[in-house]
Amino acid sequence: MERIKQAIEKVKQQQSKEAAPAAQPQQERLLEKHTFQAENLLEVSYSKTRVVKLRAGHLEKHRIFAFNKNDPTSLIFDVLRTQILQKMEENGWRTLAVTSPTPAVGKTVVAINLAMSIAQKTDRTAMLVDFDLRQPRIGTYLGLPMDKSLNDLLEGKAELSDIFVNPDIPRLVVLPTRSAARNPSETLSSSAISGLIKELREHYESRITIFDLPSLLHSDDAIAVIPQIDCILMVVANGMSTKREIDDALRHLSKANLLGTVFNKAQ
Ligand SMILES: Nc1ncnc2c1ncn2[C@@H]1O[C@H](COP(=O)(O)OP(=O)(O)OP(=O)(O)O)[C@@H](O)[C@H]1O
Ligand SMILES: [Mg+2]
Repeated sequence: MERIKQAIEKVKQQQSKEAAPAAQPQQERLLEKHTFQAENLLEVSYSKTRVVKLRAGHLEKHRIFAFNKNDPTSLIFDVLRTQILQKMEENGWRTLAVTSPTPAVGKTVVAINLAMSIAQKTDRTAMLVDFDLRQPRIGTYLGLPMDKSLNDLLEGKAELSDIFVNPDIPRLVVLPTRSAARNPSETLSSSAISGLIKELREHYESRITIFDLPSLLHSDDAIAVIPQIDCILMVVANGMSTKREIDDALRHLSKANLLGTVFNKAQ
């Protein structure tokens, strides 16, 4: 009797396996949603840019949701994207820095989700650049290989086109940073960095370049580079940013074009 039960169970399991498609590996989950369409690539030359497949589970673990239109969080980033693009278009701005008063409020998470959301507008390409030269995180959050990165460009060991990565999302290009620079603030105010910002800004009119910066009050890194970037998005976090810190940060931004503030980690 027991044997018959086991046999029936086995057949049932076999049938349910056949009826339901096998669980897709996480990497494939993402790729299905982002089938590459050559006509949508605009000016970015993907023949030169490395294409890296992302894993949905890894992204979600790092609070990156904007790649998935079925996720409610992606709608929040679309609203933010539209507000930002309207202001940038009105003023002819093409470069945007994301910063905050203090660390760990969610700048990098906001920068990545925003870049993905902008890239989903078919008339835009988005470039995401890791300018946190103390604790670069974009590559880690996206799960990118970083054998070539901004570090190599700055050390003269790679060309700009060698370090671009397309994370298999149309119209999104990432410029990751692998490790901390020796002199972050000096590097960010160097002529190499101003040349890079200019190059990224001038090359393509339809491209929005987002720079992920460190916070304003813990080092002078952000202050060193902000004058070269068209406009700023400030991120503050619920229960983390005090009024005094926000006021101090705003004082540093008095000459910058502050687009607005994201209130993150709200309950
Ligand atoms: N809305 C949110 N709710 C909860 N946790 C969040 C939210 N946004 C970001 N986080 C988490 O907060 C932590 C810090 O996020 P992130 O690295 O983006 O911050 P950051 O401001 O870039 O930090 P840093 O100043 O070190 O660069 C991460 O663990 C991230 O997953
Ligand atoms: Mg960060």
